[in-house]
Amino acid sequence: MHTQHQYDVLIIGSGAAGLTLALRLSQRARVAVLSKGPIREGNTWYAQGGISAVLDHKDSIESHIADTMDAGAGLCDPETVRFTVEHGPEAVQWLIDLGVPFTRRDEEQHGEEFHLTREGGHQHRRIIHAADNTGQAVETSLEGAVRACDNIDLFEQHLAIDLITAERIGRKHNHCLGAYVLDRDKQHVEVFRAKFTVLATGGASKVYLYTSNPDTSTGDGIAMAWRAGCCVANMEFNQFHPTCLYHPQAKSFLITEAVRGEGGKLLLPDGKPFMQRFDPRGDLAPRDIVARAIDHEMKRYGYDHVLLDISHKPEDFIKKHFPTVYHRCLDLGIDMARDPIPVVPAAHYTCGGVRTDLKGHSDLENLYVVGESACTGLHGANRMASNSLLECLVFAAAAARDIGKRLDATSLPPELPEWDESQVTDSDEEVVVTHNWGELRRFMWDYVGIVRTDKRLQRARRRVELLQQEIQEYYGNFRVTNDLLELRNLVQVAELIIRSAQMRKESRGLHYTLDYPEPDNSHPPADTILTPKRPGQAAVLGVTAATAGHPGIAGN
Ligand code: FAD
Ligand code: SIN
Repeated sequence: MHTQHQYDVLIIGSGAAGLTLALRLSQRARVAVLSKGPIREGNTWYAQGGISAVLDHKDSIESHIADTMDAGAGLCDPETVRFTVEHGPEAVQWLIDLGVPFTRRDEEQHGEEFHLTREGGHQHRRIIHAADNTGQAVETSLEGAVRACDNIDLFEQHLAIDLITAERIGRKHNHCLGAYVLDRDKQHVEVFRAKFTVLATGGASKVYLYTSNPDTSTGDGIAMAWRAGCCVANMEFNQFHPTCLYHPQAKSFLITEAVRGEGGKLLLPDGKPFMQRFDPRGDLAPRDIVARAIDHEMKRYGYDHVLLDISHKPEDFIKKHFPTVYHRCLDLGIDMARDPIPVVPAAHYTCGGVRTDLKGHSDLENLYVVGESACTGLHGANRMASNSLLECLVFAAAAARDIGKRLDATSLPPELPEWDESQVTDSDEEVVVTHNWGELRRFMWDYVGIVRTDKRLQRARRRVELLQQEIQEYYGNFRVTNDLLELRNLVQVAELIIRSAQMRKESRGLHYTLDYPEPDNSHPPADTILTPKRPGQAAVLGVTAATAGHPGIAGN
């Protein structure tokens, strides 16, 4: 008999969303936090620009709301936007109190006020930051505080495979009971049961060949929630960051939008500026517009990249504001204080996700989803820069408040069935996994990227369905591995993205299609919501738990 881990709250994910939630709950609940790799490895660590919030007396809540709604191209939920923006100052103050070393306005005089930068879409300076590595500063402070808490247990190298729901173990009243989790060191699947489970697993940009994201962004939480019966929304809106470093030795390195916020200009390789031709806001237009403009110019002229130039600013200014970018570029032979930086767009942020309410609650009772895996309605069709760390902080706090209120009235789940490996063997052909991984990411880039067409989406749909069948078959026959589990999730998320893109017969925000190049204003804009088949109904694709050899896992 294996020991089953038992907690009040199981948090899957240790980025800004997961760790904030753990800390906000730590006085009241016994909490487990899982990370599939080292605790720091996730998008949060790599965040550069900062966190947007109304922190200056010249700025206003109404202005932050208006900018967010404008970037979101008609699809933001006004109630969610107001909720997030109004809670922004408190969320940032909480981080300041935790000791996050945000850059001050005047370092030399140890000024009290914080320096605020600007990014695309923001009409005001409202981005608090720690030079150009805000994510590291935030994650380090959160991790330090979490490690000091007796009530929080951290499980690194623990990869959640699937949620355990009451329905799947034969109960009538469906709710979430916990998760099956692969201990990657011991190569053993464990049961975690909890009163409440929270998915804080980050985004899915790894589904694209070129991305600013680390390897962790494989959409695990979105795929798990979908398999457990939750609706997902707006998956067609994958954000492409306009400026990732173009260099053969630079994997996924972002050049923060704050470089443009502080005066950096986008140029064609012949030195000509071009953004004014696409939008009156020029280099500081919202990201969807800038990424599409770059893609357009690169394709029109056959360029491999464009340039980002801030060399007109003093060297000291550049070194002070962008130390991380400066040193990384210099290591690769690019001195940004003298020369422009070659840049290309890359997949950056998943605007869609598991649909949640203002408390972070999903469709499945006792399951919460926070951070990049969630679709709260804040971002609409396009996320404004630096609004996502804000969303992580605000919704983690909201979920903590709600869970806190429900803790005493909710009982711990009973002993749950162990993971069943009796019908599977060790894999005989790992190449299936590596090949499909590469194929998936390439056709997503080529067919479901910045510019789409019906034909391209149809091609992608055919391919993804084939891959799903192959991977599901493989999953049903062989013992689980890290790569197989991530690929299974990636292919699921890819299918959700393609289906959502096919459903949207217009261009809006990040979804741009040559077949319908304008927004459809004949009716009010609506979210794309996908509803999974319930377990027990015929699965759309692949095999169900009964034939897969693993318990509690449906195949749709
Ligand atoms: P993450 O920080 O990605 O954490 C996900 C966690 O989930 C990790 O701990 C991972 O191990 C864990 N996990 C995933 N799957 C599993 C599983 N199956 N089992 C167990 N654990 C799992 N946003 C801003 O607002 N401002 C910025 O300046 C900014 N800059 C950015 C720069 C870069 C290069 C990138 C990539 C993103 C940037 N973003 C920025 C976006 C922002 O960083 C993310 O949206 C945010 O950090 C997401 O936080 P999260 O807690 O939801 O997920
Ligand atoms: C950046 O620094 O450009 C990234 C900001 C963001 O993604 O919000």
